[in-house]
Amino acid sequence: MSSEETLREVAIEVSTCLKCNLCKGRTRAVPGEGNTNANILFIGEGPGFHEDKQGRPFVGPAGQFLDELLESINLKRADVFITNVVKCRPPNNRDPLPEEIDACDNYLDRQIAAIKPQVIVTLGRYSMAKFFGNEKISSIHGRARKKDGYICIAMYHPAAGLHQASLKDVIRNDFKKIPLVVAEAERMVAESPAKVAESAKSREEPPQQLSLF
Ligand code: URA
Ligand code: SF4
Repeated sequence: MSSEETLREVAIEVSTCLKCNLCKGRTRAVPGEGNTNANILFIGEGPGFHEDKQGRPFVGPAGQFLDELLESINLKRADVFITNVVKCRPPNNRDPLPEEIDACDNYLDRQIAAIKPQVIVTLGRYSMAKFFGNEKISSIHGRARKKDGYICIAMYHPAAGLHQASLKDVIRNDFKKIPLVVAEAERMVAESPAKVAESAKSREEPPQQLSLF
């Protein structure tokens, strides 16, 4: 199956999914969207008010800031893929519960496996936890690490920048590192495709810091 077909299949399943209680409050599920062969995958937390209405990720105020951030590194939405840890809106934008994240995790895993991005950018603590466990965002944000065979960078959630002005520039600076990390990822693949494929298979490897940062 092509990556496009897999992603379409996931989106169809998500649209009628009943695997957790978040299905009860949703208007529309938000599977995620973008380039099905993107180099960069962004993973947020979950749909908010506007996303739930439109069925699209990051279309509210946090999404506007994300658009600005993408533009600052000469990227458009169509260049990347954007999704969330949970695909249905938690009531009143509360944090997703562990059982909801678990129920939805298979969709995210299938999206990652289909897209095979060179770089995964986690936005906020729930997507960070998937790759970095209990680490603190304040100490690891903006740093690239190899994890589960992918190069991952944890970033503050764009909404955090809207609530706390001092974080806005931190997020902007972290974003500026993305092109360098993508270039480093491309270099690693060019130098050693076999090694990268091998590391993609070894799920238990400890986080490893890249030479670049
Ligand atoms: N916040 C998120 O984490 N995801 C969205 O899609 C919108 C806001
Ligand atoms: Fe299904 Fe995920 Fe929506 Fe829960 S959040 S109902 S698991 S699509």
